[in-house]
Amino acid sequence: MCGIVGIVSGRKVSGMLLEAIKRLEYRGYDSVGMACIAEGRLATKKDIGKIGEVDKKVDFSSLEGTTGLAHSRWATHGGVSRKNAHPHEDCKGNISLVHNGIVENHNELKAELQKKGHFFASDTDTEVIAHLIEEHYHGNFLDAVKAALQQIEGSYALGIIHAKHPGQMVAARNESPLIIGLGKDENFIASDVPAILPYTKKVTYLGNREIALLTKEKVEVFGLDGTKRDKAVEAITWAAESAEKHGFSHFMLKEIHEQPQAIAETINGRIQETLITLAKELNFKDAELKKIERIIIVACGTSWHAALVGEFMLEELAKVPVEVEYASEFRYRDPIIPPDTLVMSISQSGETADTLAAIREAKKKKAKVISIVNVKGSSIARESDAVLYTYAGPEIGVASTKAFTSQLTVLYLLTVYLAKLRGVMPQDQVSNRIRDIRKIPLQITQVLEDKENILSLAASFSRHSNALYLGRGINYPIALEGALKLKEVSYIHAEGYPAAEMKHGPIALIDKNMPVIVVATKDTRTYKKVLSNIEEVKSRGGKIIAIASRGDHEIAKKVDHVLYIPENSYILAPLLAVVPLQLFAYYIALKRGCDIDKPRNLAKAVVVE
Ligand code: AGP
Repeated sequence: MCGIVGIVSGRKVSGMLLEAIKRLEYRGYDSVGMACIAEGRLATKKDIGKIGEVDKKVDFSSLEGTTGLAHSRWATHGGVSRKNAHPHEDCKGNISLVHNGIVENHNELKAELQKKGHFFASDTDTEVIAHLIEEHYHGNFLDAVKAALQQIEGSYALGIIHAKHPGQMVAARNESPLIIGLGKDENFIASDVPAILPYTKKVTYLGNREIALLTKEKVEVFGLDGTKRDKAVEAITWAAESAEKHGFSHFMLKEIHEQPQAIAETINGRIQETLITLAKELNFKDAELKKIERIIIVACGTSWHAALVGEFMLEELAKVPVEVEYASEFRYRDPIIPPDTLVMSISQSGETADTLAAIREAKKKKAKVISIVNVKGSSIARESDAVLYTYAGPEIGVASTKAFTSQLTVLYLLTVYLAKLRGVMPQDQVSNRIRDIRKIPLQITQVLEDKENILSLAASFSRHSNALYLGRGINYPIALEGALKLKEVSYIHAEGYPAAEMKHGPIALIDKNMPVIVVATKDTRTYKKVLSNIEEVKSRGGKIIAIASRGDHEIAKKVDHVLYIPENSYILAPLLAVVPLQLFAYYIALKRGCDIDKPRNLAKAVVVE
C-alpha cells in the first residue's frame, strides 16, 4: 500500500501536501515525493527515506504552484531507490503521476512503448502509465488518460497532473482505494481519509474503473466508457486524530479488518486463470525446484507459527519433507544442510536479527534461500536468493495479524505451485485449490461480521489470569498463534498445545478457572479425536470455547461457547480460524486497558539478538 495525496486549489499547495502525506505515513514510508505545477512547468522533489528526513533534504514546501501531488511509497515493483520513488513522469516532463496498485501487464506495455522511442527512468510498473498517457495525448488530458487506462490490467489508484493543463487533476481507481475531498475553492484526492480531514469533511469515493476530472471549482466523475456518474457526497464524522487509523481505535483492529484486502493483494498477479505463476519471483529454474529433497524453514514468533502451517501444507500437498526451526536455535547449532535442501525464511519486517543470522548461516553452508517478507528492500529480502513478498501493506500494530494470514497465503500458493511442478497434483485439483483460496477474502469478511459475539465473549473472559489453547494437525499452530496474541496484548498467561498432548501433563491445570480455547474445525482425520479431547476437559470442569466449522451443531452440545467460521478446505482452515482468536485477544486487551498497539517490553521488529 502507498499514500497518495493530490490538491488543486487557488492557493499554494506544497505545504498542505506535505502535512497531508505525513498523515498517511503509516501506509508506506520507504520513499516520498512531490510534484507541483507553477508557470506552466512541472517541478518535482523526491528521495528515499522517511518523510521528515527527506523534507529536511529537499524542502518540499519550497515548491510553488496551486496544483500538486504527493506520494509515500511501500515498494512493490522496483527496489527502494530515488529513481523508483513517485511521482513518475513521461519523456517530456509534462505529465506527473502517483500510483498505488500493481500494473500486471507492465512488461508488455513497456516493451511496446520502448519500441516507439520512449525511455524509462525507473524500474517501476507505475512509470509505464505516464508514458502511455503521453502516447495517447493529443491535446485532451482526460481523454488521454481514459485511453491509456483501457490498456492497463491490474489495480490502481492514480493522481495525474499535466503541465499544459494547470488547475486540472485527473484521478482514477480500480481496486485500490481513492477518495475525493470537496473543499472551498479547492478539491482533493487521497488514498485514505486522514490526509484531507483537516481541510474538508465532505468526501466521495471513486468506484472501480471510474475516472474524475478535478479543478478548484468542480469535480466531474465518469466511467471509463465516458458516461457521467453522479456520486453521493458523504460527511466524515471521525475526529482527525482517530482517522489515521481509518476510524478504528487501534492499528491492530484496523489491520485485523484489512486482512481481506491484504490477502487479495497478496494473491493479485499470481494466479492466471487456472495456473499459479510464481516462476519469475522464485528466480529458480523448474529443474532446481523439482530437485528439492527437503525444505528447512527458519523464523521467529508469529512467523514461526506460519512456518508450522507451511510445513503441513507442503508435506500434505507437495509431498516435500519440511523441517521448521526457530531461527534463534538454527543459527547457533551448526546445522546439517544436505545438498538439494532449500532454506526458507519468513519475516514480516525482514529485519529480525535471528532470522537474518539464520539465513546467513544457511548461505555460508551453500544453501539457496527463499524468503517470504512484507517489507520491500529489507535486509532479509536483500540477502535472499529469491523473495515472495506478502502485500499486506505496512503493519503498525506490534501484534502481527494481516502479515500472518498473508504469509499463509503465500505458503499456500507456493505449495500448489510446487505440487503441480513436481507432478503430484493434477490440473483439476490445482483449479480447485485456486477456487478455494479465492474464497478466503470474502470468508474472512464474514468472520469479521461476527465480532459482536466475540466481543461479548471476551468481556466474560477478561478477568482470567491463564488460558489454554488446543488444536491438532494444521490447527495446532493456530492454537499457538492464538495463545501468543493473547499473551502479547493482554498480558494473560496463555499456552498453546497439541490437543492430544494435554493428557501428558497440562490436563492437571484444568478446572473451572482455566478457560480452554479449542480450534476444532472439521477435517477427515482428527476432528473426532478433538471431540474426545473436549470431553476430557469438560469432565474436569473446564470452560470451553470452540472455533468450529459453520453448520457443526454437534460440537455446540459439548462446549460452553462456539465461534463459527465458514467452510473451506481443511488446509485453509488456519486462515479463517485465526481471525476470531485475533479479535478475542484484542477485545480482552481492550477490556483490560492495555496499550494494544505498543504492548509493554515488545518491539515491532526485534532487530537485536
Ligand atoms: C507477533 O505478533 C510478534 N510481534 C512477534 O512474535 C513477531 O512475529 C516476531 O518478532 C517475528 O517478526 P518478523 O515476522 O518481523 O520476523
